[in-house]
Amino acid sequence: MEFSQIVRSRRTHRNFLDDPIPPESLERIVFAGTRGPSAGFTQATRILVLNDPARVELFWESISSSQWREGNSARAGLDRAPCVIIPFEDQSAYLERYGEADKAYSGIRAGEDFAAPFWTIDASFAAMMIQLAIVDEGLGYLFFALPFGIENLRANFAVPSNLKPIGAIALGYPAAQTRSASSRARRRIPNDQMIRYNTF
Ligand SMILES: Cc1cc2nc3c(=O)[nH]c(=O)nc-3n(C[C@H](O)[C@H](O)[C@H](O)COP(=O)(O)O)c2cc1C
Repeated sequence: MEFSQIVRSRRTHRNFLDDPIPPESLERIVFAGTRGPSAGFTQATRILVLNDPARVELFWESISSSQWREGNSARAGLDRAPCVIIPFEDQSAYLERYGEADKAYSGIRAGEDFAAPFWTIDASFAAMMIQLAIVDEGLGYLFFALPFGIENLRANFAVPSNLKPIGAIALGYPAAQTRSASSRARRRIPNDQMIRYNTF
């Protein structure tokens, strides 16, 4: 797909078919997640891919109740998605990396010295690369914040203690859009409200 078409057609889906994702598509999607930039080339983002139906089911049981999943018609077909990708950030790796000799010039010695959370930025970039690759494969997705159950996720998926999920991406073939999520009632702001050239 043309990049401009990927950008224009990207939108989130909350209702999926349970058809599996072709393995070669999934491979390209996950590969894209490894190609984002990272501060100091730290490369500390980790990506957990769940494509075994039993593991996907365990994911939903870990982070939500059936009430959460079914209680909102806008996401009634969300847990039918055959795959879930979870990007993890690792703050400790950045503290270590910026303590190395070639980063001494940065003056960064502790977490509060970072002007912005580089670990979250890098994991978000990886997540965005994945989202664009999903659209390129003709699939749909939802990136969503984990509602609760992070501790269950840690226990059920052997998540190392230094890693923290930034959210999750459910992906698959989109089914007809159900009624939209509440945020959809909001209108896209005009470009000139978001973009300024040369000065605010
Ligand atoms: C950090 C983050 C958290 C989000 N959490 C949720 C969520 O919990 N549930 C949901 O339905 N959508 C969630 N979304 C998706 C947004 O609602 C969606 O991106 C926004 O409404 C714009 O729609 P579009 O992505 O289709 O353009 C989240 C998006 C981001 C970036």
